[in-house]
Amino acid sequence: MSFDHPSFGKIDASRVIIFDTTLRDGEQSPGFSMNLAEKLRMAEALATLGVDVIEAGFPVASKGDFESVNQIARHTKGSVICALARTGGAKDIAAAGEALAQAERKRIHNFISTSPLHMKYKLRMEPETVLELITTGNTAARNLTDDVEWSAEDGSRTDPDFLCRCVEAAIKAGATTINIPDTVGYATPEDMLRIFSMLRERVPGADQVIFSAHNHNDLGLAVANTLASVEGGARQIECTINGIGERAGNAALEEIVMALRTRNDQYPFTTGINTPDLLKVSRMLATITSFDVQPNKAIVGRNAFAHESGIHQDGVLKNAATYEIMTPESVGWTRSSLVMGKHSGRAAFRDKLKSLGYDSLDDAKLNDAFSRFKDLADRKKAVYDEDIIALVDDEVRDH
Ligand code: KIV
Ligand code: ZN
Repeated sequence: MSFDHPSFGKIDASRVIIFDTTLRDGEQSPGFSMNLAEKLRMAEALATLGVDVIEAGFPVASKGDFESVNQIARHTKGSVICALARTGGAKDIAAAGEALAQAERKRIHNFISTSPLHMKYKLRMEPETVLELITTGNTAARNLTDDVEWSAEDGSRTDPDFLCRCVEAAIKAGATTINIPDTVGYATPEDMLRIFSMLRERVPGADQVIFSAHNHNDLGLAVANTLASVEGGARQIECTINGIGERAGNAALEEIVMALRTRNDQYPFTTGINTPDLLKVSRMLATITSFDVQPNKAIVGRNAFAHESGIHQDGVLKNAATYEIMTPESVGWTRSSLVMGKHSGRAAFRDKLKSLGYDSLDDAKLNDAFSRFKDLADRKKAVYDEDIIALVDDEVRDH
């Protein structure tokens, strides 16, 4: 089965579109703002990474946002460039269209809240008014581009019958991608699976659009919810590099892409991501924003392929698959690292000595050096290459 998409042409039902919102939702988080030059560098890196859609910003929000979307639209080639707009804001949609005018391929992404809580307290609107705006907003966006995305903000907390009516109205008005955000990271994987399955079953015209997942990480479930959404029929994933985003962040691009790839037995889907570039792009974002990635972060954290325990190091030296479910090279690391510490074993110690050029120590010297290394590791948190060199130099001199 395949689908005819306004920007991508025929796409296979097993292909998942990667929509990156690092420069919009990611940039909205405290401390993560980027200047124009930094956004252009990031956009270029995202295009090279193979991201299908780059959400470049929210043009009506500020002059700076308009300018950065406009510059990315002019200069970044290869990906669809997308701009955000409120569904009810005629000015928003016009600004998005203008900012995107020079893009090779462009998308207008319009959104409005649909949950009872948001409609009553945030929008102060009746549901029928929201429905009318969905029709006028998507019609206006569709007059500017064939590639229109509509989002039901707080969609996961929306009444299912009303959500179906909203989605139907958006499709009728010309939206080609329907995004159901879990705006506050409240949903569980079961919820997301159920919501997408229901929409695909109940809404007329559902087979003519791409469904999209946009999960926030307030309960640490963003990636799990995204995988469940794909199971429910979503074929676009909205995510950010390093999982940055409002509050606890958005689903992390590198984690979802590698989950789909590593567990292809359970999720038989493909993406266009050039995975050996993942680490480079993650590091670029960390450098630009001055926010380090936590050491234990999956895929791109400093410890993601590091082993300290002796038993693990021994296993990895014999066959890396014993403790690694993907190769470090497949996501941009040069190799796994055997970190020397009090948990390291003799095999890793020998391997480390070899890599430092000490491969001629006999068994007695090696045993002696190993026992001195263990004493040192007990005293120090981490043992660096220089410590080991000093220790083995002593060994070679003393004996
Ligand atoms: O989280 C959210 O609901 C959003 C929408 C604007 C798509 O970011
Ligand atoms: Zn969001």
